[in-house]
Amino acid sequence: MAANKAKMILEKDFKIAEIDNRIYGSFIEHLGRAVYGGIYEPNHPQADENGFRKDVLELVKELKVPLVRYPGGNFVSGYNWEDGVGPKEKRPNRLDLAWSTTETNEMGTNEFMKWAKLVNADVNMAVNLGTRGIDAARNLVEYCNHPGGSYYSDLRISHGVKEPYNIKTWCLGNEMDGPWQIGHKTAAEYGRIAQEAAKVMKWVDPSIELVACGSSHRAMPTFADWEATVLDYTYDHVDFISLHQYYGNRDNDLSNYLALSLEMDDFIKSVVSIADYIKAKKRGKKTINLSFDEWNVWYHSNEQDKQIEPWSIAPPQLEDIYTFEDALLVGCMLITLLKHADRVKIACLAQLVNVIAPIMTENNGPAWKQTIFYPYMHTSVYGRGISLNPIITSDKYDSKDFTDVPYLESTAVYNDEEDTLTIFAVNRHLEEGLELEVDIRNFNEYEVIEHIVLENENIKQTNSAYKETVKPHSNGNAKCENGKVITVLPNLSWNVIRLAKQR
Ligand code: AHR
Repeated sequence: MAANKAKMILEKDFKIAEIDNRIYGSFIEHLGRAVYGGIYEPNHPQADENGFRKDVLELVKELKVPLVRYPGGNFVSGYNWEDGVGPKEKRPNRLDLAWSTTETNEMGTNEFMKWAKLVNADVNMAVNLGTRGIDAARNLVEYCNHPGGSYYSDLRISHGVKEPYNIKTWCLGNEMDGPWQIGHKTAAEYGRIAQEAAKVMKWVDPSIELVACGSSHRAMPTFADWEATVLDYTYDHVDFISLHQYYGNRDNDLSNYLALSLEMDDFIKSVVSIADYIKAKKRGKKTINLSFDEWNVWYHSNEQDKQIEPWSIAPPQLEDIYTFEDALLVGCMLITLLKHADRVKIACLAQLVNVIAPIMTENNGPAWKQTIFYPYMHTSVYGRGISLNPIITSDKYDSKDFTDVPYLESTAVYNDEEDTLTIFAVNRHLEEGLELEVDIRNFNEYEVIEHIVLENENIKQTNSAYKETVKPHSNGNAKCENGKVITVLPNLSWNVIRLAKQR
């Protein structure tokens, strides 16, 4: 019998918002083996006629990734997009100062757009506001989105792409608040350039949506002032402000580590407040939403990355091998994003392949799933519809940096077209199961059709190219009894309880 208890009430009319599917976005940067040796490896036995790895395409499709941010990241702040279009033999090798590597430009905008189409994803295109500015930004919008009859749209057509891509979502640079960024700026400097770039990009194509850079993470000394200043300049021209956050279990303190999603929750609430403050200050009508366009666990590879030979081409970089405990935190972070579906409309798990990624590849060998693949896949596949506002009571604990951490991290998604209800839940308890009772009220005639569980006795367990040890099973014990879902969530587990209306 589990000693710890939690209760949840789910009611069809307690809605947070319709989920914008873009919250299940991801990210491919020209960094390490994300592009070269990741999505693109022309000599691989699984390569298609474009050089794209078919095994990777399949795994990305399994994740149902709706949106991929590209081409950076720190990389974009030194990138000349013109280097990556046109005949491949004419494309230059460039020093990538962001990651001290050599970029061959073998892949560029058109190749990436082709790849994205194959995985049914839209692209969230970032422009360079580090070394470049409004001219390169507006030209790229013209190249990608203008139908024809102008210099850059005709250039695209001459590169074999007749129809415009109509890319909807664009990032105005990347992490411009960070001293590590090529072309780092003060908030006022960035605010002005972002304002002018946004203005002319929308003059080229008024249908696009723009993301202004927020802080690189919550602990940045300029956090909050940065967002307020940037939005003061850009409020009329942008649609989103970005958030980035990576976590790590550096002190090997699991209770504290799993509570970090509460910090993410605070971060989101703070940025919502700042965006609304600027709206109020301007007596504005428009609400600025949030694009959490980089989030994940990132720390395992920090030390090994110090050994990389400078200016190598596509070295293994940021290749975190994720443990089972990382998958639990990723699950908690996904639940947190869902709980803010009213304001977080875009989120990108950073990144997608090889670089802090759910999918790994061996050069010339197989592609494989990391532990974090599963919570990301489960939410992306089953978490489409309406994010419900669950009323939760749970036993709690205190950790080094947090008080009152609920053992239960949970939320639910209702899909009214398919008549399904899906509960996502993590039990943070290190040793004990958690007795969960979910009152499903007016979800009459709903029954549990599957209870997926990701669990492992070894919290440090990883997967590898040849052995997938951390993988889900469907033997969870959730069942419906008198209008309630009853279950015991195993200690340290990620759970997906799927219900469907019985016809
Ligand atoms: O995702 C890896 C890097 O993290 C990105 O290039 C940068 O934006 C962030 O600091």
